[in-house]
Amino acid sequence: MIPDKPPQDNVFHGSEELKKEAHVPSFDKYRELYMKSVDNPDEFWGDVAKDFFWKTKHTGQFLDYNFDVTKGEIYIKCMEGASTNICYNLLDRNVHEKKLADKVAFFWEGNEPGDELTVTYRELLQRVCQFANVLKAQGVKKGDRVSIYMPMVVELVVAMLACVRIGAVHSIVFAGFSAESLCERIVDSQCCLLITADGFYRGDKLINLKLLADEALQKCRDKGFPVGRCIMLKHLSKEPEGILGSQSPPAKRPCPDLQQEKQAGRVKKTRPVPKVPWNPEVDLCWDALLRGVSDECEPEWCDSEDPLFILYTSGSTGKPKGVLHTVSGYMLYTATTFKVVFDHQPDDVYWCTADIGWITGHSYITYGPLANGATSVLFEGLPTHPDVSRMWEIVDKYNVTKFYTAPTAIRLLMKFGNEPVQRYKRSSLKVLGTVGEPINPEAWQWYYNVVGEKRCPIVDTFWQTETGGHVLTPLPAATPMKPGSATLPFFGVVPAILNESGEELEGPSEGYLVFKQPWPGVMRTIYGSHERFESTYFKKFPGYYVTGDGCRRDKDGYFWVTGRIDDMLNVSGHLLSTAEVESALVEHEAVAEAAVVGRPHPVKGESLYCFVTLNDGVMYNSELEVELKKQGKIMRRLLRKIACDERELGDISTLADSTVVEQLFQNRCCTAV
Ligand code: WTA
Repeated sequence: MIPDKPPQDNVFHGSEELKKEAHVPSFDKYRELYMKSVDNPDEFWGDVAKDFFWKTKHTGQFLDYNFDVTKGEIYIKCMEGASTNICYNLLDRNVHEKKLADKVAFFWEGNEPGDELTVTYRELLQRVCQFANVLKAQGVKKGDRVSIYMPMVVELVVAMLACVRIGAVHSIVFAGFSAESLCERIVDSQCCLLITADGFYRGDKLINLKLLADEALQKCRDKGFPVGRCIMLKHLSKEPEGILGSQSPPAKRPCPDLQQEKQAGRVKKTRPVPKVPWNPEVDLCWDALLRGVSDECEPEWCDSEDPLFILYTSGSTGKPKGVLHTVSGYMLYTATTFKVVFDHQPDDVYWCTADIGWITGHSYITYGPLANGATSVLFEGLPTHPDVSRMWEIVDKYNVTKFYTAPTAIRLLMKFGNEPVQRYKRSSLKVLGTVGEPINPEAWQWYYNVVGEKRCPIVDTFWQTETGGHVLTPLPAATPMKPGSATLPFFGVVPAILNESGEELEGPSEGYLVFKQPWPGVMRTIYGSHERFESTYFKKFPGYYVTGDGCRRDKDGYFWVTGRIDDMLNVSGHLLSTAEVESALVEHEAVAEAAVVGRPHPVKGESLYCFVTLNDGVMYNSELEVELKKQGKIMRRLLRKIACDERELGDISTLADSTVVEQLFQNRCCTAV
């Protein structure tokens, strides 16, 4: 399954320096540990579990499952019967047992250079406990769902861990999503409370987040699902508009402490502050709620298989799927992948550029790093603001040792040449990582040669929202790298390649990438629809988890993920379903039919190519084109999703070639986004 010997030809190796201290220092060691993880998962993961705190021990098998739909319901259980609390393991255990109270948990770096905050493990624990008490006071109980719609601020981590502390289930919605998307997710998971912020800047652009949150809550009301409470963090604003004169009782009124906010660098005197509508019936101010609240909170002890969080991912039917992860398996898996794949060492400064609104941020900004007592950079801004050197400026500022980003960001920055990179030293860097989509060898080489100066191995991590953590990935000191290959499976993961008839292919081959058995961090269900969970991932090839990706295996046994083979597109590392975009387009009154396909794009990997049939009598013109691009949730969502550079989008958003299109479809038209 794992080649006996590492490949020799055309490979890159981790530095000798790295091998000296690495958790997994050689290919042989990787192979040995891998075999143990597969032959004896109970012992392998049991050893990992020893480092964590368990209120009570597990009763049944360590990992119990059925992966075969023909044999009954699909289930995966890890350490059932054991009770613990992840927040306790991430914070209290590090503060008290590991003596990391004064260690920095996060260096927060705002959108504007100079906006910064430092938070230690002790402070994070106190803030989480305090906010957990606030949630309890608002009536949030174990098992309740809480929706979080926030920018990349420390309070986002505080909000998520406060939920975890009291056993509530967080459902984080990326702050780039539209009101419609937020509403859809709130209703689907029946959230009792929404946590948001007034607004934030992405580069020069102000996002009025509270306005969007309000719009979403109104849509929820219209759908007969009123959400009783909305807690708003004042990230940018001074005083919510209209609050003076509101009917809310004084204790609930926002009462900003401007001095403190100024010190925190939060008041942007030169920039417009967001519009903050205020509904005293529903809205509560984060700061006001905290006043006088204790910073101690006994954690709620949860069963290993209690739900931890829901995170929505695009579904090929167009309706997003609420991927559900549970407590213990996810904790063990994110902690182990983080430690081994980034070869985490105590003095590391780690930086993952993803947004916490995506799974990468959940697993590798919050859970994995904090479980290891790591110090991370939490970055609010863009790689291109105020200029294209920002990433490397931050690397030098905090002496970042491990850096994790997306191929789309690398391709974007690569276009600006080497100078913006070489303006900074980057000598602290030791390991580089990528995630989200296949990395083309050219981008890999640039990342390796220019950013890492041939010193830093690149871990090309393949995984999904559903897998919880890395499943195919090199280990930096152990696995020889091949540009563009996610190489070999992580511990406990057993991949296979199937042909169309569901037969396992041996040796060099290409087909469907599937997994033969669960690992602790794999999803447990789709919230509210176990049937959809089974039919999406387990029906096509009974006995296997089907990723939806195509994959090639080379003569050395290395895996090369080739991209989606279902009706999904990967734009800048973010999955979109063609059906979802099509349904948004046909919602427009001018549109009769729409068909959406992917088209290769040099920076984004893929771009959307939309064919649209207009209703009789409607003329195609540039105004309509603009409208269609903005159409509903999808276009807004897409625009924000293309996180790296909005100007980029302009380059390709013109009509592709009107003459060809006219020939093809007399009265049809076509627009590429
Ligand atoms: C793609 C992101 C190739 C793949 C963590 C997968 C990749 C989808 C890689 C999941 C990689 C992610 N190489 N393709 N290293 N990483 N993908 O759920 O198509 O947002 O199925 O999770 O991204 O996207 P998701």
